[in-house]
Amino acid sequence: MQSAPIKRTYLALENWFNYSFGSWNPLYHLGTLTIFFFWIVLVTGIYLFIFFHGSLDGAYASVERITHEQWYAAGIMRSLHRYASDAAIGCILLHMFREFALDRHHGARWYSWFTGVPLLWMVVTLGITGYWLVWDQLAQYIAIGSAHLMDALPIFFGSMTGNFLEGALSDRFFILIEFLHLLGQPMLLVFALWLHVRRLSNVNIHPPRGLAIGSLAALLALSLAKPAVSHGPADLSTVPQILNLDWFYLNIYPLLDYWSAGQVWMLAFGVTFLLLVLPWVPPRKKGAAAVVDLSHCDGCKQCFDDCPFDAISVQARTDGAPHEHEVVVDPVLCASCGICVGSCHYSNPFRKAETELKTGIDMPQLPAEEMRARTDAAIAELGGEVGIVIFGCEHGFDVTLLNSEDTRGIKLLCSGMLPPSFIDYALRKGADGVMIAGCRHADCYFRFGNRWMEQRLEGARNPILRKRVDRGRIVIQGGAETDRRVVESALARFRQQLSENGGKRREGKIADA
Ligand code: HEM
Repeated sequence: MQSAPIKRTYLALENWFNYSFGSWNPLYHLGTLTIFFFWIVLVTGIYLFIFFHGSLDGAYASVERITHEQWYAAGIMRSLHRYASDAAIGCILLHMFREFALDRHHGARWYSWFTGVPLLWMVVTLGITGYWLVWDQLAQYIAIGSAHLMDALPIFFGSMTGNFLEGALSDRFFILIEFLHLLGQPMLLVFALWLHVRRLSNVNIHPPRGLAIGSLAALLALSLAKPAVSHGPADLSTVPQILNLDWFYLNIYPLLDYWSAGQVWMLAFGVTFLLLVLPWVPPRKKGAAAVVDLSHCDGCKQCFDDCPFDAISVQARTDGAPHEHEVVVDPVLCASCGICVGSCHYSNPFRKAETELKTGIDMPQLPAEEMRARTDAAIAELGGEVGIVIFGCEHGFDVTLLNSEDTRGIKLLCSGMLPPSFIDYALRKGADGVMIAGCRHADCYFRFGNRWMEQRLEGARNPILRKRVDRGRIVIQGGAETDRRVVESALARFRQQLSENGGKRREGKIADA
């Protein structure tokens, strides 16, 4: 479990955002919002490039023309370019904090975290070269600071600072920076981004439309209220005075006033190293991976479609069974969510009670047979007027805390692990109602568990919950570990509703099929 205070603080913040933004809560869309801001940066960057003069003598004047002469078009584009870049880095930092606070970087998920760290640096250095291109006093300040930093590395042999002595700087150097900012760094960033999400499936790259429009409107308003402007022109014969720094991108430079370049590098490398090893600190035991049982797999590929971590692949049948395909689990990629168990139509508790329940793909730590046994035990223990079984998950609110005379909670690995037939089973076996309490809506710890589960219940995703099952006896209420009040009041309402509908226990209605 993640350090409780950090997680609880984050969950409280998220809750507050939920009240304010509803389904557009930006905290649920930080990755896609960052990509949206990159689009703004790209479009405005192309526009600015048309008017930009890429030389030592021409750069500053061209940016001034962009800013002042055509403030209503190019000027706004410049401001949007800057503020979208700032918004992107803000989102990245929040995205990173969120993944950390909610413990989504351990185990098989180390990869996205690990590949995210260089992404952060790439975006920061892309911003730095951008500021450099303006060739104002701020650019001069960061150019000289960067030269000091590079000279401290053994590969430059102290040659960089010399470039910034008066008269020594050439257009060639400037063109190199221009090439990096306009082509080299963005291409590398796109490649790194592709690597970053490579082990995830169904990655969405677009934020909700309303959120995107709202964010663009906010950036536009900021651009009009506080247009981005330059400092005075660079002048290598003077020392630039301090300056309005963009703390999102340029925070490392003021350190050079107090520390040597070597010390600043040590800090940067140290922080990077700590971030890179975070997925293994503290060391964790990885959960057991899903196991395929070919004798109960007809190669329908539903688990392949549903796996959020691309851990399941499909190949030609190898066991001579009369099916075209079989699925294979890569244990290295498997995050042990169990969503594939919920996808498998063999995970059906109605199958003969006297034999062990076998399914096509199962989790060794909580096999389908054990899920059925826990469901049977829960129903047998139900007393009171209306009996409710709650299926929860290990990462949401702990449903066993709701156990009472008429309520029994069963914790699964994820709510997406619940095969819909188990709901039917619980109701027919004697429960008056079934509540499903996974993670907060729109925020499954395993990305898609609660979404797939809802779609199965709506009949939009296989395996579907049979039409004849009374939906009035089912309720879904997700909640994080801090959401006791929300889940409890949903349970109270559900109990009341069942009671009003004559929720008398219907024991022994099931016939093992
Ligand atoms: C350019 C910056 C970045 C962008 C555009 C970006 C975007 C994304 C996107 C779109 C996803 C997939 C989300 C989903 O569909 O569930 C993702 C996942 C992830 N990102 Fe980033 N990211 C960036 C930087 C970072 C950084 C700096 C870190 C941390 C060091 C990070 C850590 C993660 C992790 C751990 C996941 C996986 C979450 C999971 O397994 O559910 N990302 N990112």
